[in-house]
Amino acid sequence: MIVADRLEVGYQGRSVWRNATFTVEPGEFVAVIGPNGAGKTTLFRLLLGLHPAWSGGLRVFDAVPKRGNARIGYVPQRHTIDFETHVRCFDLVRLGYSGHKWGFPLSGRREKEAARRALETTGASALSDRPLGGLSGGELQRVFLAEALVGNPDLLLLDEPLSNLDLRRAKALVHLVADVVRSRKVAALLVAHDINPLIPYLDKVIYMANGNVACGLPSEVLTSASLSRLYGVHVEVLRDSRGNIVIVGGEDHTEGELGGGEDHHEGEAVARPFPRGDART
Ligand SMILES: Nc1ncnc2c1ncn2[C@@H]1O[C@H](COP(=O)(O)OP(=O)(O)OP(=O)(O)O)[C@@H](O)[C@H]1O
Ligand SMILES: [Mg+2]
Repeated sequence: MIVADRLEVGYQGRSVWRNATFTVEPGEFVAVIGPNGAGKTTLFRLLLGLHPAWSGGLRVFDAVPKRGNARIGYVPQRHTIDFETHVRCFDLVRLGYSGHKWGFPLSGRREKEAARRALETTGASALSDRPLGGLSGGELQRVFLAEALVGNPDLLLLDEPLSNLDLRRAKALVHLVADVVRSRKVAALLVAHDINPLIPYLDKVIYMANGNVACGLPSEVLTSASLSRLYGVHVEVLRDSRGNIVIVGGEDHTEGELGGGEDHHEGEAVARPFPRGDART
C-alpha cells in the first residue's frame, strides 16, 4: 500500500527528517509518534500528494501520490470547518462521500445510506442531526472518523484523533479504528502523542525525532537502543507496573524539556509517558 525508500523532506531549504524507509500493508495499524514539529503531519502531506519529497522514493497504491485520492480517508489535525455554521453531522459525513461537491442539495440515496452507515460504524448515529458546533471533542472525533470512512477507503490517515479525549474515550476510539482495520483490511496510520492506548493493537511504529525516522515492529522500535539512536541522546524505555511504556530522557530537547520539569534536580531520573502523555489522561 505504501512503499517509502530513503525519503527526505523539508520546507524552504530546511530538512525536517531524512532516511525514512518503510512499507505499510493492507490490514496494518501503524502509530506515527514523535515530539511537536518532528514532521508527523508532513508525512501525511507527502502521502496525500500535498507536498513533494526532497529525495528518495514514495509509492502509494503503487503510484506517485497525488491529490484527491478517493482511496484515502483523512482526518486532519486541524479541521477547516467553521464551527459557527450550523452544518449537521449527517451533512458533513454525506459531503465526505460526494467528494465535497457543494451545491448539489439533492444528493442520492446511496450517499445518504453511506453516511448513515459510517456514523453507525463510529457509534455516532445519535449525533446525526446535531450541528457540529455543539459537539464535545470526543463526539467530534467520532464524526470526523465517520467522514473519513464514508467513501470506504483502503488507507486511513488520522492526525491526532485522540487529542482532547480522556483515556477511556481514547481507548474506545483506538478500539474502533482497530476494528475497522481488521474487518475491512484497511491500513491505518494514526498520529498520537501517547503510544500507550495504541500498544495492544499496533503492527508497526513510525517514530520520528531529531530529523531521524525509525520504522518497524513496536518491539524493534520501542527500545532504549533504538530511541537513543533516534534522539541522539541516551533514552531509557521502561515499563510501569501496568505494562505502560515510559520513556525517560526522550523528551523533545529542541523545546528544552530534556531532563524534565521545573521541580526536578539535575541528575534525577524523570519518568513520564512520552510525550506529555500525562497531560492527556
Ligand atoms: N508549510 C510549511 N512551511 C514551512 N515549514 C513548515 C510548514 N509546515 C510545517 N513546517 C515545519 O516543519 C516541521 C514539521 O512540521 P509538522 O507539522 O509536520 O510537525 P508535527 O510532527 O506534525 O508536529 P505537531 O506534533 O506539533 O503536530 C516543523 O518545524 C514546522 O514548523
Ligand atoms: Mg502535526
